[in-house]
Amino acid sequence: MRILGIETSCDETGVALYDSDCGIVADALYSQIELHAEYGGVVPELASRDHVRKLIPLIKEVMAKAGSQPADLDAIAYTAGPGLVGALMVGASVAKSLAYAWGIPALSVHHMEGHLLAPLLEDPAPQAPFVALLVSGGHTQLVNVASIGQYQILGESLDDAAGEAFDKTAKMLGLGYPGGPNVAKAAQQGNASRFRFPRPMVDRPGLDFSFSGLKTFTLNTRNKCAEADAGLTPEDVADIAWAFQDAVVDTLTIKCKRALKQTGSKQLVVAGGVSANLLLREKLADMVAKLGAQVFYPQLRFCTDNGAMIAFAGYQRMLAGQEADLKVKVRARWPM
Ligand code: KG4
Ligand code: ZN
Repeated sequence: MRILGIETSCDETGVALYDSDCGIVADALYSQIELHAEYGGVVPELASRDHVRKLIPLIKEVMAKAGSQPADLDAIAYTAGPGLVGALMVGASVAKSLAYAWGIPALSVHHMEGHLLAPLLEDPAPQAPFVALLVSGGHTQLVNVASIGQYQILGESLDDAAGEAFDKTAKMLGLGYPGGPNVAKAAQQGNASRFRFPRPMVDRPGLDFSFSGLKTFTLNTRNKCAEADAGLTPEDVADIAWAFQDAVVDTLTIKCKRALKQTGSKQLVVAGGVSANLLLREKLADMVAKLGAQVFYPQLRFCTDNGAMIAFAGYQRMLAGQEADLKVKVRARWPM
């Protein structure tokens, strides 16, 4: 079976073609980072307009790279939420129109299920049941995956998502958008012994997270440094970035360990934009080694938003017998 996947939930236009015999045959991604950088974050209206401009050319590019004709396709999968409604509408309407024209079903996919399943495209792939940590710009969740399609949320952030905290920290340190990679880069020059930031909620039982207090702590530290040095020095920025990243990574690692122990699972799957963070990968590798467990990730380019994960999740939805109709329905918020 061949499924075309379309992702437009935020600021990346992603398209990919998944073949159930040989995996991802072709994919293409257009990132709007430059468009939004001068505003310090994603401007929804600009995002929608840019998806309109880029989506059809990317679909043509992927079909050409794969040497595929519309007649080769069995379905189209598109992200129906959660995300920016205008941006989602672009992907949904294009998917539905093509599906109507080509006489195939258009399947709606949950963006976070896309992230969650992305590590299954790798070799070796995790085998359900497993525990998943989903860490993106909009979500921080620990999920018990009994089987594909059967998800139980074990814990989640009560306020900011981990990626959002990275983005806000980057903004307050003048590191620009997108925050995660910039904070990680600045942290490489940081002095590990200057600050120690709190690890929120680790001394309480349970698997929920909270990152807004850490954000405030980071802001207060930033303001104290700026006052003392009459402005932020490059050392202040690097040291704060180091302490912030260390606190987030430590917190995520502690909760993952707790989730593995609680469920008895020996497999941890980590996905979403923050799963590209190298310090997180290092700390999780140490943690799972001590537990005799294994950790799985998507390849780096499929950690952040992409069409491949949507094509693959669409294939799984199809196997599960999901119905498709021609209504264009998207959801800004949508529990998994
Ligand atoms: O999954 P994603 O592309 O979009 C959402 O579904 O939200 O994740 C984007 C988030 C952003 O907050 C970005 O700052 C963060 O992932 N991110 C990182 C890294 N790369 C991306 N955070 C920490 N370290 C990174 N290397
Ligand atoms: Zn995402």
